[in-house]
Amino acid sequence: MVQTPSGLWNPALAIAASRAGACGVLSLDVPTEWGRVESAITDLLRFGKGQVGVKVRSSYSEIENIVNLLDGESHVIVLILDDLQSLKHGIEISHQRGLKIFLEVTRPEHEIWAEKTGVAGIIAKGNEAGGWVSDETSLILLQTFLRQSHTPVWVHGGIGLHTIGACLVAGAAGVVLDSQLALTRESALPDAVKSAVRKMDGSETLCLGEGFGAGCRIYHRPGQPHFKELQKLSVQLAGDSAPPEAKLENLRAAIEPRVARNSPEGGVWLLGQDAAFAAALADRYVTVAGVLEAFRKAAANHISMAASQEALRENAPLARVHHTTYPIVQGPMTRVSDRAEFCESVAAAGALSMLALALMRGPEIGTLLKNTQERMGSLPWGVSILGFVPADLRKEQIEAIRPCRPPFAILAG
Ligand SMILES: Cc1cc2nc3c(=O)[nH]c(=O)nc-3n(C[C@H](O)[C@H](O)[C@H](O)COP(=O)(O)O)c2cc1C
Repeated sequence: MVQTPSGLWNPALAIAASRAGACGVLSLDVPTEWGRVESAITDLLRFGKGQVGVKVRSSYSEIENIVNLLDGESHVIVLILDDLQSLKHGIEISHQRGLKIFLEVTRPEHEIWAEKTGVAGIIAKGNEAGGWVSDETSLILLQTFLRQSHTPVWVHGGIGLHTIGACLVAGAAGVVLDSQLALTRESALPDAVKSAVRKMDGSETLCLGEGFGAGCRIYHRPGQPHFKELQKLSVQLAGDSAPPEAKLENLRAAIEPRVARNSPEGGVWLLGQDAAFAAALADRYVTVAGVLEAFRKAAANHISMAASQEALRENAPLARVHHTTYPIVQGPMTRVSDRAEFCESVAAAGALSMLALALMRGPEIGTLLKNTQERMGSLPWGVSILGFVPADLRKEQIEAIRPCRPPFAILAG
């Protein structure tokens, strides 16, 4: 499924996607006047081919008009849950019109509604995506829903050429692309947004409202309008005793009117980390059809490669190199993997354990490494040194490590 950028109301990407064999969805999650909505849907229905649809908030005042326009040819509607009453109503009228209904979910309890109402699919919108997202990352959210639910799950957020296969193997029915396509030939994003996206590596976005169970991921650079006041509100709400739904509603009421509407000047851009893939994909595959084909091929190749190589099996090549049972390295974690007992447990379970040295001083390291060495005997283990600690401390740490010579080391950061 391809969804168009929020706040743009331009169906170009959805039309191109539908003509290339995907489901092309026009995002109307940021409300605007009816005339603009109607003309965008009319264009989508006129020029789209195959499966097309619309994404809309369940409480949107024009939802009946949208459903009526979509009527007929088993088009798709993606509903965002605002409140249960409006959701029920949205589902009821969409069912009556024969639409295929998806529910965009960001919180585990939403999934119960998908199950109860018999929608065709859940879209698990993980923390990496743009706009309203879960606190959980996509692959975690996917696994949570798959465990709880019988409804097919699509994954939105964090989807690149190397993760689509992982999603499918984990059991996803499909994936959702949006800002990955921001620089394709058909993209109607304003030039200012395109040139910002071209430079992105994903770290330019941040999520407001994290810790409420869900939040809103936006593009951020120094001096971006509205950012300071929205961040202030988000911090204020975090300290508030109100239920998470009320906090989110408050945040939404503040963000929505500030979203960039067609022109990027002065507004908030709801961009996800996936935008970081846009430049490489557009340079190589040019059009929406080209990018979709690349995703399909990558998924098939990765899955067949994983099946033939079994890279994660016991005694796989990497495990043999590491002298471990499994080809698994435990990431160093300050205040978690800085004890000899922890290191030994990880090794006993068959992985390569990494002690996190973080900001430890020399003498402390000396004791830790001596204890670890005694416990570990011939089992493999390693230390992690942060590349960004002050030079003096790093020197002190390396001097403390040298006499012990752990078999592995990670230089981090
Ligand atoms: C609590 C915690 C502490 C961490 N501390 C360190 C650290 O001291 N040094 C480091 O290189 N990485 C640190 N990390 C990063 C992890 O090693 C790992 O790279 C990261 O969690 C991504 O792996 P995951 O997706 O499996 O969580 C830490 C992660 C966590 C969750």
